[in-house]
Amino acid sequence: MKESSFAKTILCIGAGYVGGPTMAMIAYKCPQYKVMVVDINPSRIDQWNSDHLPIYEPGLDDIVKAARGRNLFFSTDIENAIRDAEIIFVSVNTPTKTYGVGAGMAADLQYWEKTARQIRDFSDSNKIIVEKSTLPVRTAQAMERILTSPGSHIRFDVLSNPEFLAEGTAVKDLEDPDRVLIGSRETPSGVKARNQLVEIYANWVPRDRLITSNIWSSELSKLVANAFLAQRISSINSISALCEKTEADVTEVALAIGMDSRIGNKFLNASIGFGGSCFEKDILNLVYLCRCNGLDEVANYWKGVIDINVYQKDRFVLEMLQSMFNTLSGKRICFYGFAFKADTGDTRQSPGIFIAKKLLEEKAELVISDPQALPNAKIDLEGLQGKIDYIEDPYEAASNCDAIAVITEWKLYAGLDYEKIYQSMNRPAFIFDGRNILDHQRLHSIGFNIYAIGKHPKTHF
Ligand code: NAD
Ligand code: UGA
Repeated sequence: MKESSFAKTILCIGAGYVGGPTMAMIAYKCPQYKVMVVDINPSRIDQWNSDHLPIYEPGLDDIVKAARGRNLFFSTDIENAIRDAEIIFVSVNTPTKTYGVGAGMAADLQYWEKTARQIRDFSDSNKIIVEKSTLPVRTAQAMERILTSPGSHIRFDVLSNPEFLAEGTAVKDLEDPDRVLIGSRETPSGVKARNQLVEIYANWVPRDRLITSNIWSSELSKLVANAFLAQRISSINSISALCEKTEADVTEVALAIGMDSRIGNKFLNASIGFGGSCFEKDILNLVYLCRCNGLDEVANYWKGVIDINVYQKDRFVLEMLQSMFNTLSGKRICFYGFAFKADTGDTRQSPGIFIAKKLLEEKAELVISDPQALPNAKIDLEGLQGKIDYIEDPYEAASNCDAIAVITEWKLYAGLDYEKIYQSMNRPAFIFDGRNILDHQRLHSIGFNIYAIGKHPKTHF
């Protein structure tokens, strides 16, 4: 297809975990559109243009390969890309602010604001701007103010189209989303812009899953969706602590409550705590918004979700310390997994980072194993005091260790030959299953001492 024959030119600013896969899916499903993805990070763009994509997502290679060079392009030429585009998605990072007012809570909007200014400075025609990043409610108003230069004849319509994909299932989530949410101003021009975005998604998403709302509801819904999801995890994790005290089993409790269709059975896996780049930052953002609006009780309610998450990670480390005779000094502990969840190499806010730091403080030696996340793990743990080895092969990693801690629920860990692993480990050998993915009864019969989340320990003492 020649460039001039494209029906629309779409741009995404920010080629990260969201921008890259989302645009790849639009390009893959809509060969009639030209889709550009730009980033200030040239090495990230080089990776998107190579055979080694910057992120690991099942199925992503295939859709990128099918569309790249046909109607999907990755570039660092932000200026020309802005000029050419009719629709611009903004998918830059919005981390928690680490300085000044709101430090540790508010969203850091510096990358987002720079992007808004770039769009204003390089545009010479009307454009639709789509907030893809997760942002505090009412950010669209600030975006509109930045984009509106006095005396300019260029019109910008700002839409909110938050992304709900989860890492590890990004391609599936994008191909078959539960819903796509598009918020707009309820002016004729806002509604017209919104309809244009609806038409893009309608190329593959059923119409009844394309929902529209006012722009503030859309911005807020994203924060609330993540807060509710994280709240479920903190709820079951809080109950896991009670299970350990009472000999109730958290898996059985989760099954029993999850079969109530009003509660539902998803997101009830007790764990070492949630990680990932978004849950904590988005809840902190929500808490900050509540405080700024004078809603301290509401803020405290949501803050509790994060407090339980920290408590859960702490509890896991404490259990290791206490069960291994109150000293970890010189003990070798093997991490099965370091990614914040399975099927991704992403380690942002992984509970593994927190747990590794605490164990090193106790002078334990660590062996980190993960099928995808070792490069990121090395960056995360760089410069920490203590001995850390990185070994991908799980058998080699566990050899001569005192304990295995399951940090990530990679399927491969459930299928290993634990007889062989047991033979290679120091005695007594411990397994701390932070994801409840192993067959505890069998492992116990092999000789391991088993500690799992929300379950009574199975030991040989
Ligand atoms: P990311 O850090 O992987 O990617 C952001 C990219 O934006 C980076 O490559 C960065 O170099 C680029 N960037 C920053 N400023 C720029 C500028 N001025 N011009 C061009 N490029 C610029 O982040 P991400 O995980 O893709 O998240 C992006 C947004 O999407 C965040 O707001 C996040 O909360 C939200 N979100 C993330 C996920 C997820 O699973 N990671 C899911 C839903 C929503
Ligand atoms: C989450 C949301 O699920 C997405 O809808 C959202 O778009 C995204 O955040 C975002 O805004 O970034 P993600 O963080 O990629 O997606 O992955 P999840 O599957 O939600 O898992 C988050 C964390 O919770 C992981 O550490 C996971 O192991 C943990 N988790 C999840 C549990 O401990 N128990 C569960 O039952 C489910």
